[in-house]
Amino acid sequence: MRVLVVGSGAREHALCVALSSDPAVTALACAPGNAGTARIAEAAPLEVADPVAVAALATGWGADLVVVGPEVPLVAGAADAVREAGVACFGPSAQAAQIEGSKSFAKHVMAAAGVPTARSWPVGGAAELETALDEARQLGGAAPYVVKDDGLAAGKGVVVTPDRDAAVAHGRAVLDAGGAVLVEEFLDGPEVSLFAVTDGTTVLPLLPAQDHKRRDDGDAGPNTGGMGAYAPLPWAPDGLVAEVLATVLQPTVDEMRRRGEPFAGLLYAGLALTSRGVRVVEFNARFGDPETQVVLPLLETPLAGLLHAAATGTLADHPPLRWRPGAAVTVVVAASGYPERPRTGDPVTGADGEGVLHAGTAVDAEGTVRSAGGRVLAVTATGSDLAAARQAAYERVAAVRLAGAHWRSDIALAAVEGRIAVPEV
Ligand code: AMP
Ligand code: GLY
Repeated sequence: MRVLVVGSGAREHALCVALSSDPAVTALACAPGNAGTARIAEAAPLEVADPVAVAALATGWGADLVVVGPEVPLVAGAADAVREAGVACFGPSAQAAQIEGSKSFAKHVMAAAGVPTARSWPVGGAAELETALDEARQLGGAAPYVVKDDGLAAGKGVVVTPDRDAAVAHGRAVLDAGGAVLVEEFLDGPEVSLFAVTDGTTVLPLLPAQDHKRRDDGDAGPNTGGMGAYAPLPWAPDGLVAEVLATVLQPTVDEMRRRGEPFAGLLYAGLALTSRGVRVVEFNARFGDPETQVVLPLLETPLAGLLHAAATGTLADHPPLRWRPGAAVTVVVAASGYPERPRTGDPVTGADGEGVLHAGTAVDAEGTVRSAGGRVLAVTATGSDLAAARQAAYERVAAVRLAGAHWRSDIALAAVEGRIAVPEV
């Protein structure tokens, strides 16, 4: 099977590592890729937001399967274009990707499917914004305000703050930029990322993982695309995956099919385990980044066969997934200035060892690997348990050299120390 991965982050590097160890894969390409993927996959220039270009590369390269990493090409219709060109594609249609591309669309689907989520108030203008904040405050007491950009914002469109002025300022900024705003009920309790592979009917959940979205230790600083992750979750209640499959994933996939917009690909449920039960924070239409970097190293089942089955509607015949014992931790090494104004162009050294997944890197004309994005590396390790995996990941981080780099020093620490509590319902 010739497999083409679309994208250029550490998620795509992790996909390439997993795919390259599947004996069914005879050729692997990653477009446009980065300095890390180029070591294990053919590279090709690609404008990922252009569905025609994605389909042309898929046919020109002779792909049997295209795996689309990021949300932007999916929302733009890359999977539709690839399928129309007669090539199997792992990734939902543009219509179905609206479950990530529009938070209000996702809310409609959840309401129709009876899936538990935060109450929300769509906001069309400045006056509605104030009213929505008042109503959220009435419902939530002293809980922080949650104000979201309704569209795609790479994890940076959400402000959670006790400061009403800051909440208003964020809402106004989104409205002034021509966007739509959603005010939401605040969800307490730890967050879980649960991925499911689906062909639009059958749903196979993967291992739950946890992301660290804030920039700084102790969950301080602004929201980012994700600063690190670990899997599995030693503190997760027994039966969590079965519960989420029954109450969230399967009903959502069934509702999408019922609407005539079947969702085939990776359905990512961002969940909060609140004092009122499991709630969906958001859906994504693709593998999470950086959670993929910890989930895939634990998957023993060959990845290409699994994704091909989802892409061709044959997941019901796929054997149950097998997982390796142990745990995995990934630590994101970010550029100076990330997330606001990441500095690029700095040399990166010590980044060719095992488990060092590349995100924003590129090779210059002299062959030097340089930073080319905000999240530069996702340094990953597995271990017999979370503590061992964490220690191994930080040992690998210590070998990396990038001027001005920053990373969190507490990825997976609260879980290792048993400090994560799931509220009693
Ligand atoms: P989203 O882009 O919707 O995934 O939001 C990014 C992050 O903001 C989430 O992972 C949460 O940490 C936080 N967040 C979003 N919505 C809520 C909410 N309703 N209550 C509490 N935190 C939230
Ligand atoms: N880890 C968050 C995301 O992929 O959206």
